Amino acid sequence: MGKLSKEERPKFGQLVNKKKQELEKAYSSKEDELKSEELNEQIKKEKLDLSLPGPKRLHGARHPIDRVINEISDIMKGIGYSVRLGPLIEKDRNNFEALNIPADHPSRDEQDTFYIDETHVLRTQTSPIQIRTMENEKPPLRIIAPGSVFRCDNDISHSPNFYQIECLMVDKKVSMADLKGTISYFVQRFFAKGLKTRFRPSYFPFTEPSAEVDCQCPICKGKGCGMCKQSGWIEIGGSGLVNPIVFEHAGLDPKKWQGFAFGFGVERMAIVKYGISDIRLFNENDIRFLSQFN
Ligand code: DAH
Repeated sequence: MGKLSKEERPKFGQLVNKKKQELEKAYSSKEDELKSEELNEQIKKEKLDLSLPGPKRLHGARHPIDRVINEISDIMKGIGYSVRLGPLIEKDRNNFEALNIPADHPSRDEQDTFYIDETHVLRTQTSPIQIRTMENEKPPLRIIAPGSVFRCDNDISHSPNFYQIECLMVDKKVSMADLKGTISYFVQRFFAKGLKTRFRPSYFPFTEPSAEVDCQCPICKGKGCGMCKQSGWIEIGGSGLVNPIVFEHAGLDPKKWQGFAFGFGVERMAIVKYGISDIRLFNENDIRFLSQFN
């Protein structure tokens, strides 16, 4: 432009602008054309099948322990029992003293019990919920109490933290026959119809008389197998009639009231019902194990 005369310059400028606009228009229309060709090509190539299943989502599920607690609770609720809970840190008095467990009993040793301080322990059993319920509610009582318990134990078959479920029934004229009838009903609902239940004489400070409870092995139906160590029977827990001393500690008149109680290990129930080989599986959070209970 520098070489042009003064008169020629504006004309030339106008011409350049006109050409520039023409070129820009041509570029952008070509661009639009190419873009729409590309889109058409893409639509032809890609097919979207809306009937295909979407990506699979992982679902959470109840832990087998929780599941077994719910199953047991549902069966017992069906015959008039309701659920009570208690604290994990329990008064020494409720965990031992009121349950007639004497000061020199081995379970009161520091080797067996986690002490919080002089008067509090991590509860070693769910039985203290018996005391709490009898002290706070008027009989007749029909309660079950599931929960976590703690003991200084750690080997292949013992975990320092495991679960129990307690049952307490208080009424007038309660006998061992009521206890056995209730457990027998429960076992047949929980494991399988027709399974027999048996009592073996035993000792617990808080029941008198006391009995160990066995049921016919649900895996082999009593024939003998690996689960029941060829005996045909599986031990599921302890039981008995509430000791009058316990009634006295809990403020109930033992001349007026009678009752039965039993306590089962929840892991044990799950192991037997679902044929689980190792108690440690419950705490490992291995999704391959847990997802089998979905
Ligand atoms: N609390 C006992 C334990 O941990 C189990 C037990 C036995 C509970 C007899 C009971 C019972 O209610 O009557 O070994």
